Amino acid sequence: MKPKVLITRKLPDEIISKIERACEVTMWEYSDTPIPRDVLEEKIVDIDGLFCMISETIDEGLLEKAQNLKVVSNMAVGYNNIDVEAAKRKGIMVTNTPGVLTETTADLTFALLMATARRIPEASEVLRSGEWKSWSPLGLTGQDIYGATLGIIGMGRIGEAIAKRAKGFDMKVLYHNRNRKLETEDRLGLQFVDFDSLLKESDFVCVMTPYTPETKNLISYDQLKLMKNTAILINTARGGIVNEKDLFDALKNGEIWAAGLDVFEEEPVPRSHPLLTLPNLVTLPHIGSASIATRMKMANVAATNLLQALQGETPLNLI
Ligand code: GLV
Repeated sequence: MKPKVLITRKLPDEIISKIERACEVTMWEYSDTPIPRDVLEEKIVDIDGLFCMISETIDEGLLEKAQNLKVVSNMAVGYNNIDVEAAKRKGIMVTNTPGVLTETTADLTFALLMATARRIPEASEVLRSGEWKSWSPLGLTGQDIYGATLGIIGMGRIGEAIAKRAKGFDMKVLYHNRNRKLETEDRLGLQFVDFDSLLKESDFVCVMTPYTPETKNLISYDQLKLMKNTAILINTARGGIVNEKDLFDALKNGEIWAAGLDVFEEEPVPRSHPLLTLPNLVTLPHIGSASIATRMKMANVAATNLLQALQGETPLNLI
């Protein structure tokens, strides 16, 4: 008997075939709509493996329903959508897809940083809406990127990849991390600073930490107030790390100059969210790792992790 697997979103055929060779697959047939919770609750009862996305909340209540589940394979590097402790207690393995999305996510983070600093979406809109009347001495002026100071909070793989890009723009790179990374500092010419100094001294602050109870609301009004009035906050990590109400107030009050967000506490962010009314906010719908090649790699890694676990091996990316 082949193990039973549920895939929570329609995936490309080559990924499905890879899993189907060893498993009996049930798949939610839509790529743009998440699997409804009640369907997930019904299906989880007798499956051996779950291939899921960050849009699914895999909490203790759901895991309690599972009778045979051996592995939850998340097609993402972040896994704050999964109660890993509850899974551990039940002997269920949890895996993620680190590594393959590092450079793509760093590219997007830098793109968002540049788009925010140079007001690219706003400038494009001025042109398209017919408001472009003439070249203007101070029209649509933004902040310089080259030579500026970038502060990276969280020096993991993606933080490092962002630092490398920043060096190409002659930026001074500060970082703060739970532990100092001396080898990385030397190799990339980074400077370790305490959290408050990073906020005070940076022209750009990039949030790159995982989302955990410790990092929830890590950036709230007090932290935003420490930043320069000309500074820009970029978050491509997870929504809840930055307090959205405080960010709204800080952007509105001119405590910081602008922000670029790829992530929100609630996703998709409601269209009525106050942040979306602000001109000094550039937003994206959580597309950090969204290149064709990288999403295929992530799907392949997630499939391999799933199969390894179901074949009794220790998956490469066991959390
Ligand atoms: C996406 O946000 C991921 O964690 O891979």
